Amino acid sequence: MPTSEPFVTSRTQIAGAPVRDLADRFGTPVYVYNAAKIVERVNDLAQFDVIRYAQKACSNIAILDLVRRHGVVVDAVSAGEVHRALAAGYKVARGQEPGTGSQELGRAEIVYTADIFDRESLDLVVKLGLPVNCGSPEMIDQLGERAPGRQITLRINPGFGHGHSQKTNTGGEQSKHGIWHEQLDDCLARADRHGLAVTGIHMHIGSGTDLHHLGQVCGALEKAAEVVGRSVTTISAGGGLPIPYRTGQAFVDVDQYFQLWDAARKRLEAKFDHQITLEIEPGRYLVAESGYLIAEIRAVKQMGGNTFYLLDAGFNSLARPILYGAYHPMSVCPRARGATAGLPSSADGPLHDVVVGGPLCESGDIFTQEEGGFVAKRSLPAAAVGDYLIIERAGAYGFVMASNYNSKPLPPEVLIQNGQAQLIRARQTADDLIRGEVIPK
Ligand code: LLP
Repeated sequence: MPTSEPFVTSRTQIAGAPVRDLADRFGTPVYVYNAAKIVERVNDLAQFDVIRYAQKACSNIAILDLVRRHGVVVDAVSAGEVHRALAAGYKVARGQEPGTGSQELGRAEIVYTADIFDRESLDLVVKLGLPVNCGSPEMIDQLGERAPGRQITLRINPGFGHGHSQKTNTGGEQSKHGIWHEQLDDCLARADRHGLAVTGIHMHIGSGTDLHHLGQVCGALEKAAEVVGRSVTTISAGGGLPIPYRTGQAFVDVDQYFQLWDAARKRLEAKFDHQITLEIEPGRYLVAESGYLIAEIRAVKQMGGNTFYLLDAGFNSLARPILYGAYHPMSVCPRARGATAGLPSSADGPLHDVVVGGPLCESGDIFTQEEGGFVAKRSLPAAAVGDYLIIERAGAYGFVMASNYNSKPLPPEVLIQNGQAQLIRARQTADDLIRGEVIPK
């Protein structure tokens, strides 16, 4: 069973690289990823036939290249993600070339999976012959009209879902995702009309869920596969595997999870009398722990009874707390002795309950908040202006959801491999911020 790194409130290095050196070299705020942690998480899932990385979690092409070199394939939810996958060295597999008509989801390096096609992605999927996982009946018709005779898979909404937040629950009738399980017959008829073969079933009920809910998916998927019948050669368990964000949380037992799916797969193999490829589609699980957002403390403010550490990173850099009330572990790294203001820094001394916020002109710009926007406190070491605050386990849905709000540039991204830190995305410049803007004549 995977084990979690211990949670710490003070830290001086990340994967062997001193935090101060990283901040000096790349500036702050900066996202730093530990490559070894990603590889470790990939290896945890080796029992599955195919690990299909949900690149939306962290789609820098260096991260895609890293997982690609460790045998992981990808999904793409947009033309932009297809573009990234190609730039990272993923290939449109043989048999997927235009005109061959024999696209197969199982083991294809890139699969387009979404609930709609925008016009750009439909054009691209048709042109490249990419396999498609259809999340709505309309997608079947739209693809079928342009590219009859292909193989497709269907993402089914089994009528239930679960996530770490209501906003990440992707099943049930409150969710827009997937093909409603009772419409499967209709979708098979649509596929038939266009000569599309349904070769796989996929379910993803939510992000950051738990083993109990994930386990229920196997049964639902098996039922759907039986309705489709012998054309099914691939089943996908979707993503959703949670990771521990706080003390007391643990990884799910991935071995037990695999066993559940393997048993379902074997029952289908016996029923259909052919092999079934078993895919898993994790995002968070592979990258969350690897990522750190290093920010500098720029003010230590006393507001009545509350001490605020104000950082140079806000929800423009990491949106999860304001969006979901998400909890991220945090640690402090002292800059140097003799810092200029605030509590005297003493990372090893007693902890203080503080509020951690960012620079943005919004009261919601608080990293220590609970769902609903309630401000919470965090026990952290005393710190002063110039010290670093590190927001941990920020690799998944961190950089990718950052924005230019308040005209702040997107932070750089850095990958540490074998103790060496390398820039994998430069900090945006002031010119990047206004690129494409025009003052009319
Ligand atoms: N497959 C599909 C079809 C998905 O929609 C997702 C995530 C995944 C796989 C990967 O799920 P994961 O293994 O990462 O749980 N921004 C939110 C999470 C949104 C998830 C969107 N879909 C957050 O920060 O928690």
